[in-house]
Amino acid sequence: MKQLFDVSGKTILITGASRGIGKSLALGFRDAGAKVFGTGTSESSISWMESESIHGRVGDFTKDDVSRDLIGSIKKEHGKLDVLINNAGISSHTPISMMKDDEMNRIIDINFKGVFRMCQAYYKTHKHEGGTIINISSVLGLTGFTLASVYSGTKGAVIQMSKAMVAEWGSKFRINVICPGFIETEMTENMQGKGNLMEEFNSRIPMRRMGKPEELLGAAIFLASDASSYMTASTLVIDGGMTGTV
Ligand SMILES: NC(=O)c1ccc[n+]([C@@H]2O[C@H](COP(=O)([O-])OP(=O)(O)OC[C@H]3O[C@@H](n4cnc5c(N)ncnc54)[C@H](OP(=O)(O)O)[C@@H]3O)[C@@H](O)[C@H]2O)c1
Repeated sequence: MKQLFDVSGKTILITGASRGIGKSLALGFRDAGAKVFGTGTSESSISWMESESIHGRVGDFTKDDVSRDLIGSIKKEHGKLDVLINNAGISSHTPISMMKDDEMNRIIDINFKGVFRMCQAYYKTHKHEGGTIINISSVLGLTGFTLASVYSGTKGAVIQMSKAMVAEWGSKFRINVICPGFIETEMTENMQGKGNLMEEFNSRIPMRRMGKPEELLGAAIFLASDASSYMTASTLVIDGGMTGTV
């Protein structure tokens, strides 16, 4: 009998796999037997991938044509892309009153337009075969948080966009969203190690700690595999209980 959670032999593209959550997912899917492609913004940020049997690709989502090239070339050289994980993203801690257009546009370009264009390119190249998409949003796409106005807006938009895509493509594509809580990566480095700030954050999390990147892997494997075969347009929250409690 085929194992429910089996992802071995699947071809998977993970954006923003050079570090943090994406790197952890890339290594985890590789260990589970998948053929993994991972992106970073430069040759140097993906240079570690080759020795770890991950196919590195450079992709900067501030540039329009990157999505079509990325997915088109993988399909041409390796056949069907089974799973697309849109993980690349940037954060911001700028107060609303100080936010300038340049910064706002950059966050929207990477966190929203980047995800939209990757999904669009995946659909256009795989509309006959179909596929599976996992979009990485955030708990800040579900709740308000100080100093995160544009970031939260893009992450909320990713959740709604994913549902709208299921409404259009649902017979061929499964699209689900993961909303991580606070995870120990470079993105949250400014919080880590600051005693009082960490205590304040941890006191809001029932599990009293931040998550580790590898604690998102189980959910990603579930959503990428046949174990979730009737699941689409759903959002999985992985946050130590933070958004489920007051
Ligand atoms: N960490 C958290 O607490 C947390 C919580 C909720 C949601 N998330 C979400 O999870 C995802 C991963 O976060 P993380 O904490 O792992 O972040 P991270 O450690 O800062 O890594 C960000 C990744 O995105 C890539 N990236 C940055 N700018 C890009 C651009 N212009 N075009 C394409 N890729 C770009 C980076 O590539 P380079 O290495 O080449 O710069 C890197 O691979 C993000 O979408 C984030 O919003 C994180």
